[in-house]
Amino acid sequence: MIKKYTFGNPFFTGAVVEDIKADNAVVPYFTVNTQNGISFEYIMHDKDIVYGLGEATRGINKRGYVYDSYCSDDFCHMETTKSLYGAHNFILIEGKECFGAFFDYPTRLTFDIGFTKSDTLSVSAEKADIDLYIVEGNSPLEIVKEFRQLIGKSYIPPRWAMGYMQSRWSYYTSDAVREVANKYRDADIPLDAIFLDIDYMEEYKDFTISKERFGDLPELIDEMKQKGIRLVPIIDAGVKIQDGYDIYEEGLEKGYYCVDKEGKPFSAGVWPGLTHFPDFLNEEAGLWFGLKYKALTDLGIEGFWNDMNEPAIFYSEKGIENFYEKLSEITSGDKSVDNYNKIKDIVNSLQNSQDDYNSIYHNVNGKLVKHNDIHNMYGYKMTECTAKALEKLRPEERTLLFSRASYIGMHRSAGIWTGDNFSWWSHILLELKQLPALNMCGFLYVGADLGGFGCNASRDLVLRWLGLGIFTPLLRNHAALCTRDQECYQFENTEDFKNIIELRYRLLPYLYSEFLKCATEDKMFFKPLGFEYKDDEIARATEDQLFVGDELMIAPVYTQNAIGRYVYLPEEMCAVRLKKGGELKFITMEKGHHFVEVPLNEVVFFIRKDKCIPLANPALSTDAMDFDTLELIGYKNAEYKLYTDDGISTDLSKIEIKNLEN
Ligand code: GLC
Repeated sequence: MIKKYTFGNPFFTGAVVEDIKADNAVVPYFTVNTQNGISFEYIMHDKDIVYGLGEATRGINKRGYVYDSYCSDDFCHMETTKSLYGAHNFILIEGKECFGAFFDYPTRLTFDIGFTKSDTLSVSAEKADIDLYIVEGNSPLEIVKEFRQLIGKSYIPPRWAMGYMQSRWSYYTSDAVREVANKYRDADIPLDAIFLDIDYMEEYKDFTISKERFGDLPELIDEMKQKGIRLVPIIDAGVKIQDGYDIYEEGLEKGYYCVDKEGKPFSAGVWPGLTHFPDFLNEEAGLWFGLKYKALTDLGIEGFWNDMNEPAIFYSEKGIENFYEKLSEITSGDKSVDNYNKIKDIVNSLQNSQDDYNSIYHNVNGKLVKHNDIHNMYGYKMTECTAKALEKLRPEERTLLFSRASYIGMHRSAGIWTGDNFSWWSHILLELKQLPALNMCGFLYVGADLGGFGCNASRDLVLRWLGLGIFTPLLRNHAALCTRDQECYQFENTEDFKNIIELRYRLLPYLYSEFLKCATEDKMFFKPLGFEYKDDEIARATEDQLFVGDELMIAPVYTQNAIGRYVYLPEEMCAVRLKKGGELKFITMEKGHHFVEVPLNEVVFFIRKDKCIPLANPALSTDAMDFDTLELIGYKNAEYKLYTDDGISTDLSKIEIKNLEN
C-alpha cells in the first residue's frame, strides 16, 4: 500500500507515474518538523537495516553515515563522499518495522542515517515543499515492487548492449578504433561495442564529427557493424559558444539555453571551453536538442552516453571574475608562500560552485525557476528528452542510452553508469554495494567503469573486476586520459580474459532473461542476501555477496593478492567454477561459511538450491550467438522460465516466456 503526503508546494518532477491523492492524515513512522525547512525523523531500532539511496557511497546498509542527495561530479570520490552523480531518494527500512519512503524533492536533501545520533534517521531539506510516499508491504521485495509500480517501468536496452564493451578517453582516430576492434578479434575475445569519447567531435562540439580524425565515420560504423561491433558516441550537456556553430546559434536564436538573473544565456566552462546549457526543463528546448541526435542515428549509430549533465561546471564567467578579484586581494603586497593554501582554495572553489548553481535559471512553462531548486533534475531531463527524441528517430528498435547524472524517473528512459571511479580495489566493492540500491530505484541497466577510470589499472585488478562485471547488465571497460591502457589485450595471457568474458556470453540467455523479467515485472536483478533471508542474521549482515536474478548468487573477490575468499551460503547451493579453458566444474556446498579458493583466472558463482540456468555457446559478439540452442546447468529436475525476444524490438509484446526443464 502506498500513501502520499504533500507538504507545501512541491515541484512536479515526473518521478511518479501513478496518480495518488495526497493523504491529510499524520505521516506514519516519522516525526515531521517544519520549523526550519522540513525534517522527518525516525527512531531506528537496534537491528534495523536502512537500504536504498541508489548510487550513494558506503554500505548496502546505509546506517552510520550522512548522505547528501545532490547530483555531483566527483571524480575522486571516496568513502567519505556524501554526494555522487545520481540523486536517488528512496530508502527502505527493514527490522522492527518494514516500509519504504520516497522523498520526491528535486534538490539537496540530507539523509543523516545515524551519523549525528546513532539511533536517529533524519531526512531534511531546506524548503518545506516535498511529496513523501510511504510504501508498506510484507517484505522488502514486495515494497520494492510496489515502489517500482509507482515510478513506472524500467528502461530495457538492446541485447547487444549486454555484451562486453570497450571504451577509453580517447580513441583519437578511426584507425585507433579499428585497432581496438582488430586486437580484440585477434585475441579471440568477444566484443560488442567501442565507445567514442569527446575527441570524435570537432572541438568538443556536440553533433559534429572531426573531419580530420573521423572523416570516414560512416564507413567505420558499417565496417564495425559487419564485425558485430557497434560504436557508441558521447554527448555532453554543454553547447560550445562559437560563432558559426549552427547548433549554438540556433539555440541562442530560439532562446533554448538556461539563463542568468538578467535573462542572458548562462555561460560556463566545460570540455569545449565556454558553453551554454540547453534548458532541458523547457520541453521544447529538450526536444530540439534530442532531435539533434539524428546527425548520428542517420549514420547508423544505435547507442549514446550522455555526460557532464549534473551539470558539471569547471568555472563560470562570473566565477573567473571573482577569482581574479580574490587573487589580487590575497597577493596584493604579499608574495609569501603562505598564500599557497588560500590560492588553492579559490582555484578549487571554481568547480561545481554553489554560487553558479544559484545563478542559473530555467524556463518551466513560461515561469523562471532557479536551477538550484531543481538541480537533481537536469541530467534526468536531458536524458528523458534524448529518449523521447530517439523514439521518434528509431521507433522500431531500442537504442542504447545511459547517463551520468540521474534522478528517479530517469530509469524509464535509460540506464546509468556510476561515473568516474578509480582503479582501486575499494571501487569494485563500492560497485557491488551500489547495484541493489540502484535496482530498488528502478535503474536496472547499470554498471561501473570496469578496471577503473582514474589512475593505472593492474592486470589482477581488471581480472577481478571482471569477476563482478560479467554479471552486471552494463559491462564496459573505460579509462581516463593519461592512464595506462587497460583493454584486455594489453595484458599478459589474454586467454584468461577471453575465458572470463566468454563466460559472460555463455550466461547471456540467463542474464538477459532475468533482465527482461525484472524490467517487465518490477523486480530486482541484484538483491542483497537479506531480501531473500529476512530471518537469517548473517545473510542480513552480508555486504559483499548478491543474488543475481532468482537463480544465482555471486561472491566476487575484491582484494589484492587474494587466493580466494570466505563465502556465506544461506542455503545449500551448487558452486560453479569456471576453469582455465572454459571447463565448468560443479560441487554442491552446504549452508554455512566456506573458504572458496578462486585463482585469478577462475570465477566461482553459485546456483541456488533446486534451480537451474540456461547457457549458450559464446561467440565473438551477441549478433553471432545462437540464443536458441541452450544447455541447462544446476540442479536436476529443476525448471527455468526463460524470458526472450529478438533482442532489439521496441515492441515488448514480442517477449515470450518459455519453460525449460533440466
Ligand atoms: C567525464 C566522464 C568520462 C569521460 C570524460 C571525457 O569525466 O565521466 O567518462 O571519459 O568526461 O569525456
